[in-house]
Amino acid sequence: MIKPLKKAVLPVAGLGTRFLPATKAMPKEMLPVVDKPLIQYAIDEAREAGIEEFCLVTGRGKDSLIDYFDIAYELEATLRERGKKSALEALAPSSVQAGSLVAVRQQEPLGLGHAIWCARSFIGDDPFAILLPDDIVKGRSCIGQLVETYNKTGGNVVAVTEVPPEHTNRYGILDVGSDDGKLVEVKGLVEKPAPEEAPSNLSIIGRYVLTPDVMKYLAKLERGAGNEVQLTDAMAKTIGEVPFHGLRYEGTRYDCGDKAGFLEAQIAFSIDREDLGDSVKAFLKKYKQYVDAP
Ligand code: G1P
Repeated sequence: MIKPLKKAVLPVAGLGTRFLPATKAMPKEMLPVVDKPLIQYAIDEAREAGIEEFCLVTGRGKDSLIDYFDIAYELEATLRERGKKSALEALAPSSVQAGSLVAVRQQEPLGLGHAIWCARSFIGDDPFAILLPDDIVKGRSCIGQLVETYNKTGGNVVAVTEVPPEHTNRYGILDVGSDDGKLVEVKGLVEKPAPEEAPSNLSIIGRYVLTPDVMKYLAKLERGAGNEVQLTDAMAKTIGEVPFHGLRYEGTRYDCGDKAGFLEAQIAFSIDREDLGDSVKAFLKKYKQYVDAP
């Protein structure tokens, strides 16, 4: 029997150095895309997939992420008193059911694999999703699409997309077996290979559904690329033990860990909104001259 997927781990211990000084006193996962922090996009996406138990793997200086999911009594009382209905409604997605969100600390930055290992008590013997909040995906819940595949295969599923061959050294890359254009069988995985060593240009984005089998390999805390404990290496060891697939998801991913990707996300998530679309289109026209300049 395939165990239903109910849990998600969100690694949020990163220092956010690419966004300094903005992230000096604020977690990068609290940076807003339009009017919602990155972390909220990940939680919303997981909820759309029926996930209601969350574990944030945090680090020092990241406590505001936990506060964000708490009830803000004073704020809510003031808004209610003043009859600010829409502001109150805007707060709703940031409330979680009591006891459904826990946090563990990753005390040292030893890599993504180490972060997931820090969540081992939360994971227990259950399948779990991982969402890296740096990546946001516009469209139908990406993790929901992986869950649909997991419900059929009962194995590991990662969201994948083709990247330019010169960018393979930024991602986990698949060695591809059978491929029907949407679902690919994973024969091997390499973390951040140089273009000349990459088995393909099919890369993992920050969305995973994994069975707990990966945890015994993570527990070895073996170092890989960048001298970090790599999730990709531990996942690679489960190939042959559990079914393993990559899913070319529907939707557009924005890499908000990158300044250009973050800026593009601001446009993408506002241009089709009823309250903002017209203003965004109007100001974009102002910049057309720069786009057209030789
Ligand atoms: C991590 C993973 C990598 C994956 C990427 C997706 O890398 O290690 O396999 O492709 O996330 O965003 P990071 O971005 O943390 O360097």
